[in-house]
Amino acid sequence: CGIVGYIGTKQAQEVLLEGLSRLEYRGYDSAGIATIEKNVIRVEKKKGRLQNLVDFLEKKPFRGNVGIGHTRWATHGVPSDENAHPHFSLNKEIAVVHNGIIENYMALRDELTGLGHRFISDTDTEVVAHLLNELYTGDIVETVQIALKRIRGSYALGILCAKEPDKIVAVRKDSPLIVGLGKGENFIASDIPAILKYTKEVYLLDNGEMAVLTKNEVTILNAAGETIDKDVFVVDWDPGDAEKGGYDHFMMKEMMEQPKAMRDAITGRCAEAGAFFSGLHLDEEMMKHINRIQIVACGTAFHAGMVGKYYFEKFARISVEMEPASEYRYKNPIVDKNTLLIVISQSGETADTLAAIRLAKDKGAWVLAITNVVGSSIARESHDVIYTNAGPEIAVASTKAYVTQVGCMLLLASYLGQLNEKLGKKDAVRVCNGLAKTPELIEMVLDTQEKIRKFADANHEIHDLFYMGRGLDYYTCLEGSLKLKEISYIHSEAFAAGELKHGPIALIEDGTIVVAVCTQEHVFEKMLSNIKEVKARGAYVLAIVQESHEEIGSEVDEVWVIPKMDDDITPIPTVVYLQLMAYYLAVARECDVDKPKNLAKSVTVE
Ligand code: G6P
Repeated sequence: CGIVGYIGTKQAQEVLLEGLSRLEYRGYDSAGIATIEKNVIRVEKKKGRLQNLVDFLEKKPFRGNVGIGHTRWATHGVPSDENAHPHFSLNKEIAVVHNGIIENYMALRDELTGLGHRFISDTDTEVVAHLLNELYTGDIVETVQIALKRIRGSYALGILCAKEPDKIVAVRKDSPLIVGLGKGENFIASDIPAILKYTKEVYLLDNGEMAVLTKNEVTILNAAGETIDKDVFVVDWDPGDAEKGGYDHFMMKEMMEQPKAMRDAITGRCAEAGAFFSGLHLDEEMMKHINRIQIVACGTAFHAGMVGKYYFEKFARISVEMEPASEYRYKNPIVDKNTLLIVISQSGETADTLAAIRLAKDKGAWVLAITNVVGSSIARESHDVIYTNAGPEIAVASTKAYVTQVGCMLLLASYLGQLNEKLGKKDAVRVCNGLAKTPELIEMVLDTQEKIRKFADANHEIHDLFYMGRGLDYYTCLEGSLKLKEISYIHSEAFAAGELKHGPIALIEDGTIVVAVCTQEHVFEKMLSNIKEVKARGAYVLAIVQESHEEIGSEVDEVWVIPKMDDDITPIPTVVYLQLMAYYLAVARECDVDKPKNLAKSVTVE
């Protein structure tokens, strides 16, 4: 979910709606705002897209220069007007927006009901408003401090109190929250893009910290209630980065930005002798003790991790275990001080990934994060961070973050291989040279869009689509298949091509489309056999190959080509074909590409 809050001299409604529009990718099953006008809190919230709220408020605008807003991704309670945030005490003295989960909300709710409070939603958040109302001492800051002692769980909270209309109180634990600093105005937000239009100067709240905002001042208190000094963090993203810039969808804009994103990910990390990362604490001495690498991530980042595993094993010759963060954190993994945990996360806020870091750190592991968001929780809690430098990614379906994650993994694997003395200088330089060409290679694929759009227009009524590949191509297939499901709702699966005979081939019928990714030279012949097998069952085969294998055209129904390159580099341009295919199929099916149903960009709850 997304949070934004404003206090200043502007009409709060405008700033809140603008902020929420930047946060819609955080969740979008309902949205709401609350403002204070002449000591009265007014709340409006609407199920569905933010536009419903905007349309409503256009007719009946809220006035007032202080307010909070929220866009929701349902956890407790179905999407509805009542369950949308802000939540408030029925006397409208307190209004709150919340990200996270209040774990003991049932007990609190029973207790407050016993005291005469009436609840109108099914959410865990509503208890916070009632609890604050019940405990109110005449000082909202003190009241929040008392209330927090009663609350268990995770939260980023923005709080308004009608009796103290010149304040917003914000507090966080295990859910991200930042404070934006303006002149004569201040902001709160769950994510940077929400306030990027107004300020680049922010405080990144740490767990347990509270911010008290007035229009001219921000005070930060620690968990003990003492005032503390905090460093101002200056965001280096451009406001334009969070706009669509003439494209129909953020996803298209972000796919088109991939050449630049790759350039920014590599720049400064390739020297004459191969990859290097300045500022990394992990060094030769430490690598001597590392006998196990674990990679943990979720979703698209998990697929980047699989590519990474291949690279680490190939270049650094260390065995790598891979686990989705949601599995890792609940299985008592074998971790000790000789373990290197690599986590990958675009947002740097995914709850399961964060929990995995804490677990591994407790057991003594060294944690290295690959993330896109500077100052994110994952960046701050890890021992070492490599930033992907892809710039803000807004579309739910991750594209530019993925290619930069893969790029960073390749650089890191080659770097570790050198530290480990398993990779010679010649090969290290080869990796860097290969990566340096990726911006251009991606551009070549992006230039073939017309062909992909035609393919999508001709095939958008399909019910299933299968992908198969071997080695690195298999991981690219997994990612392509996820992209397709996420945004076009077409059922799809990806197979390791050698597994075909062990089950999946039963699904092939006359006309079933099979995307065969065959960019890996050492298994090309094997792929040819697999292609023949599905062709024999009636499949329509679309093959993706390096230019040197264009002759495959006589065996298949359609061929898409990438230029000849090092086999280790192919996942980067190849995935762009699969991203575009998913995109154009989704567009042809009239799906909401940037905001697919049931999904959110940043999953900060379990
Ligand atoms: C969500 C998004 C995915 C993303 C995953 C992990 O499910 O919809 O696109 O891959 O979270 O997010 P992270 O920010 O940790 O990379």
